[in-house]
Amino acid sequence: MFGNVDFDSIDITQEPPEEEPARQYYFIAKCRKYVKEESERLGRPLFAVVRTFGCQMNAKDSEKLAGILEAAGYDMIDSEEANFVLYNTCTVRDNANQRVYGRLGVLNGIKRKNPGMKIALCGCMMQEEAVIEKLKKSYRFVDLIFGTHNIYKFAELLYMALEDHGMIIDIWKDTDKIVEDLPARRKFSFKSGVNIMFGCNNFCSYCIVPYVRGRERSRNPKDIIREIEALAAGGVVEVMLLGQNVNSYGKNLEEPVSFAELLREVEKIEGIKRIRFMTSHPKDLSDELIEVMKNSTKICRHLHLPLQSGSTKILTAMNRKYTKEQYLALAEKIRREIPDISITTDIIVGFPGETPEDVEETIDVVKKVEYDNAFTFIYSKRAGTPAAGMKEQVPEEAVKEGFDKLLFVVQETAKKRAALLKGQVMEALVEEKNEQDETLMTGRLSNNILVHFKGDDTLLGKLVKVRLEECHGFYYMGTMTD
Ligand code: SAH
Ligand code: SF4
Ligand code: F3S
Repeated sequence: MFGNVDFDSIDITQEPPEEEPARQYYFIAKCRKYVKEESERLGRPLFAVVRTFGCQMNAKDSEKLAGILEAAGYDMIDSEEANFVLYNTCTVRDNANQRVYGRLGVLNGIKRKNPGMKIALCGCMMQEEAVIEKLKKSYRFVDLIFGTHNIYKFAELLYMALEDHGMIIDIWKDTDKIVEDLPARRKFSFKSGVNIMFGCNNFCSYCIVPYVRGRERSRNPKDIIREIEALAAGGVVEVMLLGQNVNSYGKNLEEPVSFAELLREVEKIEGIKRIRFMTSHPKDLSDELIEVMKNSTKICRHLHLPLQSGSTKILTAMNRKYTKEQYLALAEKIRREIPDISITTDIIVGFPGETPEDVEETIDVVKKVEYDNAFTFIYSKRAGTPAAGMKEQVPEEAVKEGFDKLLFVVQETAKKRAALLKGQVMEALVEEKNEQDETLMTGRLSNNILVHFKGDDTLLGKLVKVRLEECHGFYYMGTMTD
C-alpha cells in the first residue's frame, strides 16, 4: 500500500514506468527533486494550497491532491500567498462558477507580485468546453488545467507544470479507470471520507454531474475494505462512504454486490465506530438497506434523502423516477422502522414549468416528512442539460416568494425536530475547538446535529456522552457527562 513507498529511492534517471500507480510515484519523486532544489535556492520551504469549491466528493479529491503536493515536498498552508495554488472547482450551480472567476481575479493580482507562482485549476467546472474557452481567452496566467477523469495523474501534470512555462491543458472526456493507492492528506485524523463509486448514470434533467463526472463506476469492495481497515489502524473512528447515488453501488461490478452488503462488511471492521454515507437516491433505496441500518450499531442515525420537488409533475420532468406519494411512503417506512433517525434533504425551487401550486406540494412534503434539515436551492440553468432546453424557464424574481415561504417552513420544522432532543444524553464525536469560544469543543451526534460543550483539545477524535441542554435551532449547548 502507499504508506510504504520511499519516493527518494525511486530511480528518476530511468524512463517513467507505464503502469499505475508506479508511474505517479515516479513523478512524485521527480517533483521532490525540483521542490528540494528550489527551496534550497530560496532558503525556505515551498508552500502550496488546495481550495475546495464543491461537494464531499470534491473535498475528498482535494485531500488526494494535497496528498500529492505534500509527498512532492510542499508545505501545505491555508493562504493564497503560496508557490502553488490549486482550485478544485464545482459547476453544479452557476454561483459555484462565479466564485471561481472572482477568486481568479484576486489570484492574478497576487501572481503579478510573485511571478514564480503557479496556478492550477481542476474539478468539475473544467469538464465544460465553454469554461476552457473562456480560460484560454481571458485567464492566460493559469498554468495548469485538468479535469475530473485524469486527477489520478496529478503528480505527472504537476511535474510538467513545474518544468514548463505557459498554459498546460489536459481534459479527458471520460474514463473507466480507477487508480488505487495514491497518497492523501486528510483534514481530520479521526474521520475520513471513502469513495465507493464515481460518476452518475441518473441524468436528472437539471443536473450537470453525469456530464462532468462520467459514467457510474463502483470500486471493488475488497479495495474499499482494505482502505477502511488501514484508516482504522491509523486511528480513524468514523467513515463517510461517498457516491452520487450510493444505493446503486456495486450493480455493475463483475461480481455484483449491494450497498447493504457492503455496509455489513464495513460494520465488521474493528476500530470503526461510526459509518455515514452520502447520497441516497430515493428510487434505489432498498428494504435491505433499511434493515441493515436498523440492526446496525455503527451506522449513524442520519439519512440524506434528496426530494428535489414535492410535485409529481415536476419530479417527472426532473427525471427523478418517483412520485410524491412514493417518496412519502418511503419516508414514512424509514421513520417507522428507525424512529430515532434524522432525515435531511435537498430541494430545488424554480425548475422550468414550476408553478406556486407545485411549490405548495413541496411544502406539503416538508410538513409531512418533518425534515431534520434541508438544503434549498434556486434552480440554476446548466448548459447541455435537458432542463436548460425546456421552454417554461421561471424568472429568478418569480421564484423568490416561493423560495422564502419554503425556507421558512424548512427552518420551523428543523427547529421543532431538534427541540425534541432536549434533556437527552447522547454520544458525540468531538471534532474541533469552537471558533468563537476557546473553552468550548464541538461534537457531532449520530444524527448529524452539532453540540458545543466545555472541554479541551485532549478530547479531539473521542466519542463522549453529552447532555443536550439548550437548543439553538440547528445546534445544542450541552455538558459532558463522563
Ligand atoms: N447526487 C446527489 C446530488 C448531487 S448535487 C443526489 O442525487 O442527491 C447536490 C444538490 O444540488 C442536488 O441534490 C440538487 O438539489 C442540487 N442541484 C443539482 N443541480 C442543480 C441545478 N441545476 N440547480 C439548482 N440546484 C441543483
Ligand atoms: Fe445529479 Fe441526479 Fe446524479 Fe444526483 S442522481 S448527481 S442529482 S444526476
Ligand atoms: Fe459540484 Fe462536481 Fe460535486 S459539480 S457538487 S463538485 S460532483
